[in-house]
Amino acid sequence: MVGWMKMETKMIELKKIKQEIQKCKKCKLYQYRKNPVPGEGNPNSEIVFIGEAPGFQEDNQGRPFVGAAGKVLDEMLKLAGIKREEVFITNVIKCRPPNNRDPAQDEILACSPYLDRQIDIIRPKIIVTLGRHSTKYIFSKIGKSFSSILKVHGKTFRWQYKGGEILVFPTLHPAASLYNPNMRKILEKDFLRLKEIISKIQSFSKAGEETLDKYL
Ligand code: URA
Repeated sequence: MVGWMKMETKMIELKKIKQEIQKCKKCKLYQYRKNPVPGEGNPNSEIVFIGEAPGFQEDNQGRPFVGAAGKVLDEMLKLAGIKREEVFITNVIKCRPPNNRDPAQDEILACSPYLDRQIDIIRPKIIVTLGRHSTKYIFSKIGKSFSSILKVHGKTFRWQYKGGEILVFPTLHPAASLYNPNMRKILEKDFLRLKEIISKIQSFSKAGEETLDKYL
């Protein structure tokens, strides 16, 4: 999947999606939004982080993970040696559900094609799903059933994607750790594992490997 699309083309295509989201009325959430939150980051990133949906701060600013959960995510990225501006961060749902309620199935159905297109343009090596909603959604794409985030977090799953492969790494939603030190420990352990996986992937990419077999 190396060299799939030029950086410039990726930027143009991601911008088109952003403009569509800004006008989107495909589900009822547009009525409540201040700003949609399409996602942001490096179009060439080898890692994409997927959360659930914007919260209050994200809706205010039009940017993903800029509130309390975002602060935790920033701390985890630092722990894993990842610079926020080097990765792409987005959500399954691009508009804030009222009172931060869970996204409804019809909203996921209406909004997720935007995420599918973002993934297809970026074609990352790793997708980190943050919490149960994005994990369940990506598992549905891999044809894997989902029961609980606590059963699958910190493990790697392989997505055979259009002649290539994407590694899916589920972890907890950063907000889950806000008032729960045990969840925080799990999140930290997962991000340290992610750091190991990234460094393996980087060394194997240098060796020109195409399959993920040796990364795992
Ligand atoms: N929680 C999410 O799932 N996404 C955000 O962007 C912010 C908080």
